[in-house]
Amino acid sequence: MGLSRSLVTTSTALLSFLVLYLAVSFNNIAAKHRHSTTTNHHKHHPDTNASNPRLQQAYLALQAWKLVIYSDPFNTTSDWIGPSVCSYTGIYCAPYPNNTDIQTVAGIDLNHADIAGFLPDELGLLSDLALLHLNSNRFCGILPHTLSNLTLLFELDLSNNRFVGPFPSVVTSLTSLKYLDLRFNEFEGPLPPELFNQNLDAIFINNNRLSSVIPSNLGLSTASVVVFANNNLGGCLPPSIANFANTMEELLLINTNLSGCLPYEVGWLYKLRVLDVSSNNLVGEIPYSIAGLAHLEQLNLGHNMMTGVVPLGVCELPNLLNFTFSYNYFVEEEGICGNLTSQGIIYDDRRNCLPDKPLQRSKKECDPVIEHPVDCFEHPCGGDKHVEYSRQKHHT
Ligand SMILES: *[C@@H]1O[C@H](CO)[C@@H](O)[C@H](O)[C@H]1NC(C)=O
Ligand SMILES: *[C@@H]1O[C@H](CO)[C@@H](O)[C@H](O)[C@H]1NC(C)=O
Ligand SMILES: *[C@@H]1O[C@H](CO)[C@@H](O)[C@H](O)[C@H]1NC(C)=O
Ligand SMILES: *[C@@H]1O[C@H](CO)[C@@H](O)[C@H](O)[C@H]1NC(C)=O
Ligand SMILES: *[C@@H]1O[C@H](CO)[C@@H](O)[C@H](O)[C@H]1NC(C)=O
Ligand SMILES: *[C@@H]1O[C@H](CO)[C@@H](O)[C@H](O)[C@H]1NC(C)=O
Ligand SMILES: *[C@@H]1O[C@H](CO)[C@@H](O)[C@H](O)[C@H]1NC(C)=O
Repeated sequence: MGLSRSLVTTSTALLSFLVLYLAVSFNNIAAKHRHSTTTNHHKHHPDTNASNPRLQQAYLALQAWKLVIYSDPFNTTSDWIGPSVCSYTGIYCAPYPNNTDIQTVAGIDLNHADIAGFLPDELGLLSDLALLHLNSNRFCGILPHTLSNLTLLFELDLSNNRFVGPFPSVVTSLTSLKYLDLRFNEFEGPLPPELFNQNLDAIFINNNRLSSVIPSNLGLSTASVVVFANNNLGGCLPPSIANFANTMEELLLINTNLSGCLPYEVGWLYKLRVLDVSSNNLVGEIPYSIAGLAHLEQLNLGHNMMTGVVPLGVCELPNLLNFTFSYNYFVEEEGICGNLTSQGIIYDDRRNCLPDKPLQRSKKECDPVIEHPVDCFEHPCGGDKHVEYSRQKHHT
């Protein structure tokens, strides 16, 4: 499905970026990291013992962590014994950036270890950590505030665990963070606006219990991938989405209880390759501005309550590969929109109110919706000056 496909693209891109970054700052630890499946982690660092205070701190942190691990079915941490932390399974050392004679713990990769436990405050002692990957475990509770000490942390992947509580605001204090993955946890409540003011490249927060949509006071954001899917954001997508314009390539808002119209400003995200707002309560017409998204490859508007015409300009987008608008109330496909196969575009137009197409909704289903069209200019989503301006422009 669209979601997983885009995620694969993302992680490949990020991995190359990561390798580059680490090659510069951490002497290519990423290469070791990627070969982490080999079982023998024997390394011969002269200072993997108490004579190096950084490793000594790491030792304290990891032993404290081991004490709050209550289930480790693959025995991943069973070799976390003794001062040689660099030879522990899942722990990766690299020369300290400012002094390459000193080894320090730069990466932790416990992905898919199925470990159950907590994250203790002592993790703040791992102040040189660049990567923390805990994907697919059973870590629970909240994130310790001491994580703010990890000023070099670049990638934080806590996806598919059992973390709870409000959005962990400690992540907004991580100044080096580029990649944040909190998918598939149970974080709840609003998103802090600061999240979007960080220099993050990718934000994955889908499949939590988060509420409140992107803050309307959003400043310029640097994220190229934002996946909000499967949360209960509710409300309208604010026009401030336009503040992602310089970077945003993938925006996935699947099943987030969005309502109102798709703001015209979506069309200002000129780098978008994937736009998926499916399975929401969106109404009104497709904003014509989408016809300006020259890089758009995947467009999914399916399972909403949108009405009006499917505009020609969208169907003529030069890079469009897959256009899904099924399960809405569209009444007309303009020009070639009615025969996208001829453009080599995969499409799905089922269950609309298209008079000449098969597999449409019944007249009984269509009429009540079509007879009460929503005018998106009269029923605005956001309501800042930005929108007023674009509305006037649109009207003239
Ligand atoms: C096209 O997009 C829809 C919706 O995202 C998806 O379900 C379908 O698998 C896609 N088709 C192809 C061939 O990529
Ligand atoms: C600790 O490291 C020093 C060199 O840094 C080495 O001389 C010493 O033998 C090591 N001690 C242990 C117990 O490994
Ligand atoms: C883990 O260690 C325990 C005790 O040593 C052993 O019984 C179990 O088989 C080990 N599990 C795996 C997956 O190696
Ligand atoms: C590393 O060195 C840079 C300048 O060379 C300095 O600004 C920075 O604070 C140092 N970092 C640490 C953790 O010592
Ligand atoms: C933060 O890291 C420094 C070392 O860089 C360490 O001395 C200090 O104890 C750490 N603070 C916390 C709260 O873990
Ligand atoms: C969806 O969001 C609206 C606010 O726009 C809220 O009233 C409603 O309860 C939400 N739906 C669910 C299922 O939580
Ligand atoms: C769609 O376009 C193709 C090729 O351009 C053509 O062969 C086909 O008859 C068209 N289908 C309809 C329903 O117009």
